[in-house]
Amino acid sequence: RAAGPAAADLLAWYDDHARDMPWRVGPKDRAAQLRPDPYRVWLSEVMLQQTTVAAVTEYFRRFTARWPNVAALAAAADGDVMGEWAGLGYYARARNLLKCARAVVADHGGVFPDTREGLLSLPGIGPYTAAAVASIAFDRAEVVVDGNVERVMARVYDVHTPLPTAKPELTVLAAALTPEVRPGDYAQAVMDLGATICTPKSPACGICPWRAPCLARVRGTAAMLPKKLPK
Ligand code: ADE
Repeated sequence: RAAGPAAADLLAWYDDHARDMPWRVGPKDRAAQLRPDPYRVWLSEVMLQQTTVAAVTEYFRRFTARWPNVAALAAAADGDVMGEWAGLGYYARARNLLKCARAVVADHGGVFPDTREGLLSLPGIGPYTAAAVASIAFDRAEVVVDGNVERVMARVYDVHTPLPTAKPELTVLAAALTPEVRPGDYAQAVMDLGATICTPKSPACGICPWRAPCLARVRGTAAMLPKKLPK
């Protein structure tokens, strides 16, 4: 029996190929097990919903220069935050952002809860963001599934069930692969793999750290996956 995909192979790839993003810590800090700032992780995850990394980066830099921590953001005037958000779209995200920052200050002493459940109790934080922040900021072995992860799982396991029907199935597969060691780096590694190698069109299977165990590559189905129900 061929070995399945291993988190360790993806983490080794991530150590060399992680994208540099202003909310991440670099390789040296990762080696020293330094955690990224939960405020910055949370802010980046909210900005990255429906928006690309390239578009978010400048907004993130401006936001964090003006409001370097959650207490500063909680104290900001609504109009100033909406003004800095202008251009990112989906303005409900900005209103929820402020609601959440104020709840962290009012109900949690300005410290983000460090579990998925605690994060989920905050206003404006849904299942994806709670899992992503618990994983990336606090290194909890939560299952983080975005569109990149769905695509990678569908290909590695050659899942032909169309989205969104396939979502529970892909989540189970993603959960089984999530390691207890470095789960935060692993979550970001799958996203980076999906964004840079396991891309929607013309995936770069030849340089993929999971090329050997990938069923879609073996069977030649990668380009047609994931399947999607017509909208
Ligand atoms: N998309 C959403 N969150 C991300 C992250 N932390 N790294 C890469 N891509 C992402």
